[in-house]
Amino acid sequence: MSWLKRRLRALYEHAEDGVERVFGPEWNPMRQLGALGWLLFWIIAGSGLYLYIFFDTGVTQAYESIRSLTYEQWWAGGIMRSLHRYASDALVAVAIVHMLREFAFDRLRGPRWFAWITGLVVLGFVYVCGITGYWMVWDRLAQYVAVTTSELLDRLPLFVEPIARNFLGDLYLSGRFFTLMVYVHIAAPLLMLLFMWVHIMRYAEAKVTPARGLSWSTAGMLLALSLIWPAVSQPPADLGHVPTVLGLDWFYLPLYPVIDRWGVTAVWLAALATSIVLVLLPWVGRRRRAGIAVVHLDNCNGCGRCVEDCPFSAITLEPRSDGAPFAQQVLVNAAHCVACGICAGACPTATPFRRATALVPGIELPDDPLSRLREEILARGAKLEGTQRVVVLTCQHGATVPESPSVAVIQTPCVGMVPPPFIDFVLARKIADGVLLAGCRERECYHRLGYEWTEQRIAAKRDPNLRERVSRDRVGVSWAAPTQSALRRAELELFQRELAGGSPAPRSGLNPWRRARLHGGVAWRTLGQALAYSCAAALLAYFSIAPRHEVLGPKLAMVNLSFSQAGRLKEPCTALTPAELAKLPINMRRPRDCRRERWPIEVQLVINGELMLSGRYAPAGLWSDGPSTVYKRFAVPAGQTTLSVRLRDSGRVEGFDYTRSATVDLETAQNLVIDFHAEQGGFSIH
Ligand code: HEM
Ligand code: SF4
Ligand code: SF4
Repeated sequence: MSWLKRRLRALYEHAEDGVERVFGPEWNPMRQLGALGWLLFWIIAGSGLYLYIFFDTGVTQAYESIRSLTYEQWWAGGIMRSLHRYASDALVAVAIVHMLREFAFDRLRGPRWFAWITGLVVLGFVYVCGITGYWMVWDRLAQYVAVTTSELLDRLPLFVEPIARNFLGDLYLSGRFFTLMVYVHIAAPLLMLLFMWVHIMRYAEAKVTPARGLSWSTAGMLLALSLIWPAVSQPPADLGHVPTVLGLDWFYLPLYPVIDRWGVTAVWLAALATSIVLVLLPWVGRRRRAGIAVVHLDNCNGCGRCVEDCPFSAITLEPRSDGAPFAQQVLVNAAHCVACGICAGACPTATPFRRATALVPGIELPDDPLSRLREEILARGAKLEGTQRVVVLTCQHGATVPESPSVAVIQTPCVGMVPPPFIDFVLARKIADGVLLAGCRERECYHRLGYEWTEQRIAAKRDPNLRERVSRDRVGVSWAAPTQSALRRAELELFQRELAGGSPAPRSGLNPWRRARLHGGVAWRTLGQALAYSCAAALLAYFSIAPRHEVLGPKLAMVNLSFSQAGRLKEPCTALTPAELAKLPINMRRPRDCRRERWPIEVQLVINGELMLSGRYAPAGLWSDGPSTVYKRFAVPAGQTTLSVRLRDSGRVEGFDYTRSATVDLETAQNLVIDFHAEQGGFSIH
């Protein structure tokens, strides 16, 4: 598993290097996939609301109402429909790329399991919304989706009668069932929104809006696509005929052709196995969990800075319990804490300058105490040589930094763990000539907010800030992913050169010299982005309708054998004698005693002389007293066809209670139904 993760991560990192070159760190869509998901959700919800105003929920009117929206109101309804479809497709793509990315970057372990599991639930809802959405159009694709989904659901012991029977023909189709789908299509997004909120509720400052430029250009791309290639319906549903070749939406329906080939049971089993693996992933190959943050109450004044800076909402303010003259103290929630150490970086009592007392801040990590960081800085700094001595404080997740006699590299769980007084300390005590904070890729902190807080603290925009007296010329930042080690080396070299030359070294923020290295000129970037959006639009347009799927081969027709019939009672009812009646409690006295158990039914179907089905169907119900149900479909060559169907419902050993034979002339793709109603004399073929 870790091999797969490493491979996938390398793939993502390389892809993101390219994406960052084109989009820049701020607009890079890869680092705001979750936020893009939210944007797409709002586009889908807004366009869906508009469509709902004009949508007619009647089964016969649904197709027409959507057709008229698409063509007669193309300038509003048509655009809304296309936006609705393409944004929904984009949501699937974004959610899956986001999911794989969280897996690849190992952001699912420990307390992060919560986002992983709730994310899976959200993904489930995305599919429920999409599939019911296709159902509502009531075109040929909807018909295929309705039949196949019903067959899939019928495999579960949920319904007494197979719901797939609803789609055998117009006779069977219930308007109420169709309306139910509409309600599901409205309820599912509401539940999805609820889970989207639950998904991020443990994250402080979760990004639910992408960078403004990215939002506008994504919406613009979807709008342009809607105008150039509007979403349209396929021909109207016709239950008398089976769809033969269909344009499929491969974002939502990739499993449907698999169901056609493997059958529902195999697909259920595969889906179940995949779901189990996905659910267990946060706990697979689990490593020892680092110790969570501990609070040293003696040094905590309840200022709440750690509460504000914790990216995982793991700290709460509580009433003071130790009699100290402060109103509040903090409490760490072990279930949320990922041991990033960012809280220690926020604590104003975390200062290395103290001499009289030991360095014990209000909050810190037991496995990475700040006293050890101070010792390490002192010990490693003492060995530095030259005029460009640099202490590099780095994290475990970004590009490595080469050590040398003039460079001491000290690793922390996250650069956000470094309290600003430590930078002051290194420079004031002349331990080094400069301090470089070297973290993950720009705006892409493994611990979410370490990058932002570090930049803000150095820029004196966030408490605790780096004191005014510290020369910013001697403080540098370097943000680089593991694939960007060349960039890291270049930045370190530049920083050292500038330290020696006395020219202004990089301050916090996106340094101009770095910007030039990362991306080309504006013209190239604009061109690159236009190309990227065009590719995304082309992929959405293509896979929302192609490649086409052959549902039924040429010159074939479909024979459906489907009915429910209760087998006869196994034992005949008997009349009770007055003596027997007298023995029973008053409320149970009935003149006839009937055992409930019924015979299973046995069915045979012969098509063109070939025995296609010979089966025994058990009665439903715990007491085996319900009806037996048959639902089978057979693709047969069109043309003159002889059918012979037999049923035994009485437990007799030989012969059948009902038989029917017929010769029919099947049209290509005809959907022929063999039904059974004992009260109407047995089998009917229509
Ligand atoms: C439409 C679907 C989804 C939306 C809108 C969405 C949205 C988000 C957002 C906004 C964040 C917070 C990002 C941040 O500010 O750091 C997030 C984090 C996360 N998401 Fe999703 N997500 C979706 C689907 C999924 C799926 C399917 C999975 C995986 C099964 C998933 C797994 C995660 C994980 C593990 C994190 C936490 C990352 C961390 O701990 O830093 N998400 N998601
Ligand atoms: S270590 Fe990180 S997650 Fe834990 S309390 Fe501190 S800031 Fe929050
Ligand atoms: S930042 Fe430090 S002093 Fe302030 S509440 Fe947190 S632990 Fe206490």
